[in-house]
Amino acid sequence: MKNTAIRSLIIAFCFLPLTAFSQKTSVQNIDRRVEELLAKMTVDEKIGQLNQVVGDISTGTDVKQDNLLNQIRAGKVGSVLSHTNFENKIVMQRVAVKETRLGIPIVFGFDVIHGYKTIFPIPLAQAAGWNLAAIEAGERIAATEAAADGQNWAFAPMVDITHDPRWGRVMEGAGEDPYYGSRVAEARVRGFQGADLSLPNTVAACAKHFAGYGFVEGGRDYNTVDMSEQRLRETVLPPFEAAARAGSATFMNAFNTLNGVPASMNKHLVTDILRGEWGWNGLVVSDWDSFGETVEHGAAEDDTDASAKCLAAGSDMDMAGGTFQLGLKKALEQGRVTQQQIDEAVRRTLRFKFSLGLFDDPFRYLDPKRREQTLEKPEYRQAARAMAAESMVLLKNDGGVLPLDPAGPFKKIALIGPYANSIGNKDYMSFWTLGLGMRDYDSTKVVTPAMALKPALEKLGFEVTITEICLDANCDEKDYSAALNAARAADLVIACVGERGYDCGESRSVNTLELPRGQERLLQIAARGNKPAVMVLFNSRPLVFPWAMENVPAILVAWQPGFEAGNALTDVLTGKVNPSGKLPITFPRSTGQIPMYYNHLSTGRPQAQFGEMWKSGYLDMPNTPAYPFGFGLSYTTFSYSDIKLNKAAINKGETLEASVTVTNTGNVAGAEVVQCYIRDLFADISRPVKELKGFEKIKLAPGESRTVTFKLTEKDLSYWNDQTKFKADPGKFKVFVGGSSVDVKVADFELK
Ligand code: BGC
Repeated sequence: MKNTAIRSLIIAFCFLPLTAFSQKTSVQNIDRRVEELLAKMTVDEKIGQLNQVVGDISTGTDVKQDNLLNQIRAGKVGSVLSHTNFENKIVMQRVAVKETRLGIPIVFGFDVIHGYKTIFPIPLAQAAGWNLAAIEAGERIAATEAAADGQNWAFAPMVDITHDPRWGRVMEGAGEDPYYGSRVAEARVRGFQGADLSLPNTVAACAKHFAGYGFVEGGRDYNTVDMSEQRLRETVLPPFEAAARAGSATFMNAFNTLNGVPASMNKHLVTDILRGEWGWNGLVVSDWDSFGETVEHGAAEDDTDASAKCLAAGSDMDMAGGTFQLGLKKALEQGRVTQQQIDEAVRRTLRFKFSLGLFDDPFRYLDPKRREQTLEKPEYRQAARAMAAESMVLLKNDGGVLPLDPAGPFKKIALIGPYANSIGNKDYMSFWTLGLGMRDYDSTKVVTPAMALKPALEKLGFEVTITEICLDANCDEKDYSAALNAARAADLVIACVGERGYDCGESRSVNTLELPRGQERLLQIAARGNKPAVMVLFNSRPLVFPWAMENVPAILVAWQPGFEAGNALTDVLTGKVNPSGKLPITFPRSTGQIPMYYNHLSTGRPQAQFGEMWKSGYLDMPNTPAYPFGFGLSYTTFSYSDIKLNKAAINKGETLEASVTVTNTGNVAGAEVVQCYIRDLFADISRPVKELKGFEKIKLAPGESRTVTFKLTEKDLSYWNDQTKFKADPGKFKVFVGGSSVDVKVADFELK
């Protein structure tokens, strides 16, 4: 056996305990049953299994489909995506099992992006909480609800790293860092899949979009991606590999081309790396009609050509487009694909269905009683509230305006802004709350800031006025004068500004990150009342707000917090929860600075000071961000000791231990995300100025100290080198530990 084959086998074996195929016997059992079934199937039935059709809501381009039940009855459907109606799912499953020749059950897929029926904060916000256990627990809840509602398969986690917040899908990921993105990816996969895929409260995960989608040019959705193998290996792929190793049952192709080759027909990605190097053997589903779109990309001639190329690359199931239905049989007849290639894709599909337990009981996930007892439990909302509060990031708090103190100078509070009390437009959420339906969801489930803050603050002795202000492109002068009057009458203004929920997600890219002009004007006019203000930002991506940054004393990033928006905000503003969120993505000063990310290369001419000529910089803008990666304030303060190293140099195979003692130097308890970065000072190729290698979130009482130790091995120091493998170069390194990517202590060490 060739070396690579042996390695693949070993890796595949390592993955097994974590997946649904946990016992060797059950793997063998499943394999045997798959082969028996496969032997009975006609070519048409096989191709039918590879077809995923659209249910009762659409999340993409228009697709032409015949009547769903007729298609199922004709054996042309292996999977249904985006179906919300529970009773219909039972009917569909019954038709599949009872009215088709082989009775193969349907697998139902759904976008479970930030909660299912109970809506959690958007994934980017969840990442800002730096609490992996909470993220995993949140996905457990989402999976429990989704599975009780008949879904078997979550199209999540999206593990795409991005450097461009103009891209609408930045909200679905964990931000800009591959190390942190990998840890979040694992937590999400574990949360969805639990211990065993066949349990009725777990769903299969789907790591998406493989790969490179976060690097679409200009941040424009579906655009071209062109990048070095280096960036692919070091920045894009690590979270995918982490998801694969955590046992993600499925992967999804991406819409984009990668270096000219559409991801769905990209053999380098799917066959060589995912299935070959990583030894992963799950199911790969296309993205919405992404097989068909290879024709529009100009990389396939027609459905037959597209089918042949996508299947040959290693992709298995065709989502929404029907390309395989139109072209795969012809491709087989023309000898463009082999029967073995089709069989392999069908095997993976059947194995997937077996692992979910669908063959043992096709109605396992379609129990009306369990559904009734499971959805939207009060404790799920409690978890959503805690997570939303933990995700909020305090960017500024001059003069200690926050937390609101009944004994302090601000008695009268004016709550203003378009998101003070907004119902509808999926505000405080995102487009991706499909479990609620599209637009016509029950908006009474959302607790707005006004609903929660007013009673809570009044109970504490404040007087609160709410000024309903329409503010976006349509706002007019009367809104501004209402804001000014409210500010004049109050001691403190809380302005809720940001983005509409419905504008967050896929196909929602923007060309500027500026806070909508009307909203900045609102802040400016309210400021004429000469009262301090707190800006609360409801956002799905980093936004740019230079005026507020200079002039508003307190700024809190609330993201899109989900159902419990108002309650979570109240918890933070009143100090019941001390903010501990840290930015998982850089906030630039201006849109023109993009791409902006902390782990960039040095360049040959790094600019030390703004204005320095002949150095890499702009004439009109410093290179520094508005708020850096890893940054976030607390109502308390933390001090860091110098770093202690266990040795000044390590040999390969040894472990470096870097310790700091962190002390809560303020008056209230708080949590701090202690971050560890390295820099490889010189290598065979240029290395980033910092790379995150570890973090720990610790809770400290006032005056309490804790020592945190990070362990670094040769693996942490390695990089994708010009000989196309990961390796570490002996030489000098720096290790940094601190409370953000810029606020760090530093020490030097060597790898011998
Ligand atoms: C998105 C996927 C999603 C799929 C199904 C596509 O347009 O890119 O992320 O899972 O639709 O809704």
